[in-house]
Amino acid sequence: MSGKNNYFLTTPLYYVNDKPHIGHAYTTILADVLARFHRTAGEEVFFLTGLDEHGQKIQQAADEKSILPQKHCDEMAPRFTDLWEKLHIRYDDFIRTTEKRHKKVVQHILEFVYEKGDIYFDEYTGQYCVGCERFYTEKELVDGKCPQHDKPLEAITEKNYFFKMSKYQQKLINYINENPDFIQPKHRKNEILGFLRQPLDDLCISRPKSRLNWGIELPFDKDYVTYVWFDALINYVTAPGYLSDDKSFKKWWPAVHLIGKDILMTHAVYWPTMLFSAGIPQPKTIFAHGWWLSGESKMSKSLGNVVNPLDLIDKYGVDPLRYYLMREMVLGQDASFTPESFIKRYNSDLANDFGNLFSRVSTLIAKNFENVIPEYNELTEEETKIQKSAESVIMYVNQLIEKMRINEAIEEILQFVRSINRYMEQQAPWKLVKTDKSAAARVLYTASESLRISALLLQPVMPNRTEIILDTLGANGANLKWGILKSGTILKKHSPLFPRIKVEEPVAEKVKQTIQDNIITYDEFQKVELKTALILKAEKIEGADRLLKLQIEVGEEKQQIVGGIAEHYKPEELIGKMIVIVANLEPVTICGVESNGMLLAAKKGKDLSLIIIDSDKVKSGFKIF
Ligand code: ME8
Ligand code: MG
Repeated sequence: MSGKNNYFLTTPLYYVNDKPHIGHAYTTILADVLARFHRTAGEEVFFLTGLDEHGQKIQQAADEKSILPQKHCDEMAPRFTDLWEKLHIRYDDFIRTTEKRHKKVVQHILEFVYEKGDIYFDEYTGQYCVGCERFYTEKELVDGKCPQHDKPLEAITEKNYFFKMSKYQQKLINYINENPDFIQPKHRKNEILGFLRQPLDDLCISRPKSRLNWGIELPFDKDYVTYVWFDALINYVTAPGYLSDDKSFKKWWPAVHLIGKDILMTHAVYWPTMLFSAGIPQPKTIFAHGWWLSGESKMSKSLGNVVNPLDLIDKYGVDPLRYYLMREMVLGQDASFTPESFIKRYNSDLANDFGNLFSRVSTLIAKNFENVIPEYNELTEEETKIQKSAESVIMYVNQLIEKMRINEAIEEILQFVRSINRYMEQQAPWKLVKTDKSAAARVLYTASESLRISALLLQPVMPNRTEIILDTLGANGANLKWGILKSGTILKKHSPLFPRIKVEEPVAEKVKQTIQDNIITYDEFQKVELKTALILKAEKIEGADRLLKLQIEVGEEKQQIVGGIAEHYKPEELIGKMIVIVANLEPVTICGVESNGMLLAAKKGKDLSLIIIDSDKVKSGFKIF
């Protein structure tokens, strides 16, 4: 059993039939972020990724180029490692299934399982999908086609070797029931338990060389190679040292396997039964995340709808892409990828909130304190509150990461950043310097220290740009305690970290023109996202007689909006009303209060009415057409 402070994390081994795409990038970044969080928490981490190089798919790709499969793999491998380098992936081992160390372990395990009597020879007819490299049973097909690829399958009859997977069915069911965290998230576990209510078939684990010879030869029959999954899954024990380095294997195994939901069955059924037969302990966790979708379909290379992650990196940088992918997907669910949502997320969180805090703090210190982090005397109640909230964010983020709730952890950090921006608005150190310089010093120290802690917390997600912030503050050590930042430190120079992304000029020009003409095109109207929103809370804003600050719910999201309706509605009569908002408006700060979106009302002269939904069937977050 591995020690408490050892964390072994794996990604799938990606097929090398084509170049890497955003789906591959996503899982690998996710693993990197988790690995970095765990390293920061003082754990020893082993982060493994690599390539799946055998099988028919790879053979076909090589045939198309008229080169040998090994040559094809050798040409593809750098495309993956180059991308990982570009994405700042810090893996500890990179394994390729064509490596000697791996072939040896596969053959040993095959031999062992065969000797044990868990492999037999039989004739078989089945429906095979080359895309998935697996047979499908009739009941799994959709309209007679592969459910993953929507393509017809190949009917194949041949003599093959079979692994007695059925023998371990009950044992697997028991294991899943006794280890509630084994398959995550929960709905995936239930999916597997549901599947296991039907009798489990044995698994065909060989291919006759006459049909396919690009694979690892069976140790007990040289006319056959082993099936890709029986080959590739074993990498997870090869790399940490199974049969080659006992001490290392004991140190790291069992693993946390990160996968996409497309390969849940192979990981949660094939792999555990193989391990039972081989007498190897089960992995700690198999975590299946959802898919990045483009429209309705899964983003991939073979579907031809892929956005090349390299394009986004060259345009906007690696860290913003990492941030977007981590913030936007709720682990376990699907998420939609659009360049628009990327820009929206970037502009609101990185340019407006995080980047803004950084440039404000450094500009004010440069301007008023000769670019030196100021000394402060005593903290007032306000600063003590911030310190407490920093400490609770640190604790909460750790707990969320432990539970793989990365998007929530990031949102926690951003909430803290936003609260510091509000604190700056309220304290207005740019005014204070004129009346009470020591108070201004206190505020700027507090904001800088909050910035340092936020940067450290975001470091696993954006290792590059947070490093620049920490470097600017002269605080590169990874210490998450309040008060580490040293007064007297000279701030380094930096260029703007997250410059706002301007939405394409030509579009703006066109919109201006058509607004002058007083008509808009259908496409322009489509850009305005009108949604229903439920008012949860409403309150007056001090010093602004016409404004109300509303907390609203828009589907899953909660946000704050400011509206000029205080002369027409009392706060308490608004609660529970379903209104209409423009949901994709750039966030603005009105009288020091952040507003996300705009509410819709009808107005003439002194009369005003909110647009209110009058059907109970309409919930918040509905789109308005
Ligand atoms: O299945 N959204 O390799 P593969 C999110 N070689 N993640 C995605 C994705 C998407 N649209 N598309 C792909 C194989 N992925 C086997 C694995 S393991 C021993 C062998 C990610 O190249 C996700 O992690 O088809 C998915 O499970 C994996 O890429 C599939 O990669
Ligand atoms: Mg695939």
